[in-house]
Amino acid sequence: MGVNVNEQWDMLKGGAGAVKVTSAKEYASQNKVKILVIGGTGTGKTYLCATAAEGDKVVIGLAEPQGMTTIRMANPEAIVFPIGWREPDHELYEKLANGELNRDVLGAYDLDQFAGFVQEHHAEIDAAALDGITEAQEVIQNYFLLLSGKGHETPSLDEFQKITKRVHKYIRKLRDLPVNFLCTALQQEDVLSDSNKVIKRMLIGGQRLRERIPQMFTAVGMLGRVEGEEESQHVAMFSGRKDCQTKPYGKLRLEQPPDFKEWVKLITE
Ligand SMILES: Nc1ncnc2c1ncn2[C@@H]1O[C@H](COP(=O)(O)OP(=O)(O)OP(=O)(O)O)[C@@H](O)[C@H]1O
Ligand SMILES: [Mg+2]
Repeated sequence: MGVNVNEQWDMLKGGAGAVKVTSAKEYASQNKVKILVIGGTGTGKTYLCATAAEGDKVVIGLAEPQGMTTIRMANPEAIVFPIGWREPDHELYEKLANGELNRDVLGAYDLDQFAGFVQEHHAEIDAAALDGITEAQEVIQNYFLLLSGKGHETPSLDEFQKITKRVHKYIRKLRDLPVNFLCTALQQEDVLSDSNKVIKRMLIGGQRLRERIPQMFTAVGMLGRVEGEEESQHVAMFSGRKDCQTKPYGKLRLEQPPDFKEWVKLITE
């Protein structure tokens, strides 16, 4: 083969709009809001991404194709970048062909190109979203194993560490983009072995990532549904429960309506 995995990876990355990693100072002066939300299936993660900004002012890196159903319903004009699923979505292509979608919906397939697009168009968009980290990690892992010729084998410890580094790097790269940024992750419940307490936190392979990724965000919220009088309501919460991996910021604390635009206002105004 001659070319090692890392070289192949770099070759693959080449050409996709390179993204400058900003310095801490620059990052602070951008005054952009970076939020992570964690939620179980059907709690409204994809809905939140789709409505993170009006119409085509939001760009979504979508690592889970089924999310397209929710996006079409909640905001059909959202710009969607498939992350790791290359099977064409026929309805989407049809819409594109018919001019029913007014922007280039397809055009990149992975995190680099998603990041490159957001960087290039940051002045025209109000928010970018990655939906979600749990699936994106799988995409990165599968890609890594594919390139190393291992198919779907379980990675070795050494490989797993490399994959972990890569996931970390990508999340940081996306976080540092000069836009308001929303990230979702699936929620899992763990029983802590020392206390038998149940804790709800992000589902991701590797303890380091589970601890470090939340630290990269301005605030971390937990999505859930509360039973209303007639129907259940989607809500987010940024503090108030010890058993949840949340992080409040400023006025963004207890129960919040699931509306990223409002969260940005709460933090920046
Ligand atoms: N804030 C909301 N207001 C109204 N409907 C909502 C809201 N949030 C979610 N929904 C609806 O609830 C359903 C599930 O939402 P969504 O697809 O966003 O969940 P999810 O967390 O992305 O689930 P999954 O883990 O399966 O991807 C969808 O039909 C969506 O339209
Ligand atoms: Mg979803």
